Order: sequence, then structure tokens, then C-alpha cells
Amino acid sequence: MKILVLNGSPKREGSDTMHITRAFLEGMSEAAPQKIKILNVIDSHIEYCRGCFACMHNGGICVHDDDMRAILEDILASDLLIWSFPLYCYGMPAPLKALLDRTLPLSSMAMRKAGDRYEHVGQADYSHLRYMMICGCGFPNAKHNFEPAVAQFRLCFPGGGTIITVPESPMFNAPEAAVVTGPRLELVRAAGRQYAETEEIDAALLADICSPMIPEDTYAEIVNRGV
Ligand SMILES: Cc1cc2nc3c(=O)[nH]c(=O)nc-3n(C[C@H](O)[C@H](O)[C@H](O)COP(=O)(O)O)c2cc1C
Repeated sequence: MKILVLNGSPKREGSDTMHITRAFLEGMSEAAPQKIKILNVIDSHIEYCRGCFACMHNGGICVHDDDMRAILEDILASDLLIWSFPLYCYGMPAPLKALLDRTLPLSSMAMRKAGDRYEHVGQADYSHLRYMMICGCGFPNAKHNFEPAVAQFRLCFPGGGTIITVPESPMFNAPEAAVVTGPRLELVRAAGRQYAETEEIDAALLADICSPMIPEDTYAEIVNRGV
């Protein structure tokens, strides 16, 4: 599989979330050889969408001539697109959101009804693409936290992408937490192997991966001790 990882953390390789993403990719690579490209979005030159809609009328060329042209080509050449990002204000970090906005040239202005909603008709053929979201966050609670980012992902990529959300993710960068992060990353590796073989992750395994690694109050107490 050709996999493109959009790393939306401004911490680049130092990202808490990328520990999860790397473990997933390791699992996938254990099951079968994969061609992986990781893009640190913060290092790309991506102008903000101007909202002119020129790209939706002219075959998909944006008025901005920046890194997004090559990124769109990379996206279309991929089989699996992984959006790896930390939760920021219940959504994705701004540089990654700028990239998402700039995928507009893939759509045309024409819209069609899909169930009880409308979606744009594609200007490019991206029907072969599979999508995944991997998101870490700083609070211990998964509920009342990830929902807006998950809803955005589901609406932007209808047809069922795979979503991994992990609370308490700063622990991935804390060596003293290895006793709990090690087993969690092992589960993520297993999920990667499973995904490479079946393009799905077993619901029980996914639920385990997305649960807090230590009890919520213990985590909050440890964080507050260091404040
Ligand atoms: C600007 C900003 C906004 C954040 N918003 C949230 C949030 O809404 N919910 C949450 O649980 N954590 C939030 N966090 C914490 C990060 O998600 C957390 O530190 C995460 O582990 C960082 O991941 P990374 O190392 O992959 O960038 C926020 C952090 C920053 C800097």
C-alpha cells in the first residue's frame, strides 16, 4: 500500500500522537511491505484558501502556487491517507486545517444528494483512497472532547474511514510511563497488522486502544502535581 501520513503536530517527529501513528505503521509493515511517506505539515508552504472557488470551475487548479499542488498529487497517488494530529481546541491544528481547506480543488461546484445530506461531485477521481484519523489529546477524558474532530472527519470523508483517538497522550513522550504506554502501543501494532490484512480494526481492540491508559483522576492528579 502507498501510505501518506499528514502529521499535523507542530512538534514534528517529537509529537505524542506520532508514537501511536508509528506503532500503527510498524504493525502494517509487519503484515506486508508498505510504501510510507510522512509529511510534517508545519514545514510545508500552504497558503490559506481564499474562498474564490476558482479551483472548482477550472479543472482543479488553485490560484495559489505553493506546496499544496505537490501535496494534492501525493494524496491522489496514495492508497491510504492518515491524518495524524493532536486535538487542538476540540479540532485539528490550524496548519492541518489549512491543508484540509486546500483540498477543495478535488471537488467541483456541482452537488448531489447522498442520503439526507449533500456532497460535492469530485473533480478528480479519489474513489480508491482510504482514510484514517489518528488523534491524541491532553485531557484524560475521551467523551466531551474528541467528538467535534470525529464529526468533521466523518463528514469530510463519508464512506467510513477508521478513527483512532487516544486520551492522555502526553504520556507517550514520558519514559516513566512506559509501563502503560508500551502495552498500549503493542495493541496499536496489532491493530496495524489487522488493518493491513483486512482493512478494518476489530471493534473490541479499537475500544481498548481508545480508552484512558490510567484512571482519569490519577492522570489529572499527576498533571496537577507538576503545575
Ligand atoms: C493550542 C492547544 C489546544 C489544545 N486543545 C486540547 C483539547 O481541546 N483537548 C485536549 O484534550 N487536549 C488539548 N490540547 C493538548 C494536546 O492535544 C496534547 O498536548 C497532545 O498530546 C499533543 O500532541 P502532539 O505531541 O502530537 O502534538 C491542546 C494543546 C494545545 C497546544
